[in-house]
Amino acid sequence: MEPQLQRRVQRYGWDKAAKFYDDSWKAQLKPAQDKLLEIADLQLGEKVLETSCGTGLVTLRAARQVANGGKVIATDLSEKMIDEARKLTNGNSSSNIQFQRMDAEQLDFEDNQFDAAICSLGLMYFPFPAKALKEMHRVLKPGGRAVVAIWGERKNCGWAELFPIVDKRVASDVCPMFFQQGTGDTLRNSLQSAGFEKIEVERMSVTLDYPNDKVALMAAFDGGAVALAYQKFDDQIKAEIHQEYLDSIEPFRVGSGYEVPGEFVVAYAKKPAS
Ligand SMILES: C[S@@+](CC[C@H](N)C(=O)[O-])C[C@H]1O[C@@H](n2cnc3c(N)ncnc32)[C@H](O)[C@@H]1O
Repeated sequence: MEPQLQRRVQRYGWDKAAKFYDDSWKAQLKPAQDKLLEIADLQLGEKVLETSCGTGLVTLRAARQVANGGKVIATDLSEKMIDEARKLTNGNSSSNIQFQRMDAEQLDFEDNQFDAAICSLGLMYFPFPAKALKEMHRVLKPGGRAVVAIWGERKNCGWAELFPIVDKRVASDVCPMFFQQGTGDTLRNSLQSAGFEKIEVERMSVTLDYPNDKVALMAAFDGGAVALAYQKFDDQIKAEIHQEYLDSIEPFRVGSGYEVPGEFVVAYAKKPAS
């Protein structure tokens, strides 16, 4: 897919997904977000860049950690995701968060600005993830750290049939490189190529709990990456893909719900001090 088209699919797809996102994914993504924040070890007063901040699930927690003397600049490609994030953070009295709509591959910041750069579950959607990592490296101060969380290997993500089910009904794949960075040593190598050192990569096995078909379908189709394509399907196609997706996660059925396996990869990397 043309990078420009992929960005448009992402931007407007996440606009559609925004109002379903937290109900669909908040609980499921928490283990990866917890690990990212633990590894980032944000300190009072630090200046943090967040790329692909989404609805602000990590942003708010990061802002509390750096507190009033610090700052989180939270960026995302989707205006509607940022709108949701603004709602979430309205109660953040310290107002040390600044939101900006921005492509993670083209950061509108000077070099050497941030103590830490974080990206939670965003890299899979960028046409050129390596470029986004180079941008994180560029804007970090010497000695600053990047922490990135992504989905892991396709074979370890029980929900992965979602993409081929949708892709065979649209002109071009929705997320062509989704599992690329999470496979083998790819993320480590990308971080190294971006100029980082002291890289540590951790894989985490998780279970996505869906109490029933309805919640599993909402997470897959309304609240995530395929939302734009999905909204354009007619009712018959929607019914077909619902069934195909439920068939694909049937091996993970427990009672009336599902316990779908998933894998996250969380990586720490440091920009050399000089
Ligand atoms: C799965 S959500 C993750 C949101 C949030 N970081 C979290 O952990 O809940 C993926 C986010 O990546 C954003 N995104 C996709 N492509 C992007 C790009 N090229 N630049 C910046 N953000 C992008 C989407 O708009 C969406 O908000």
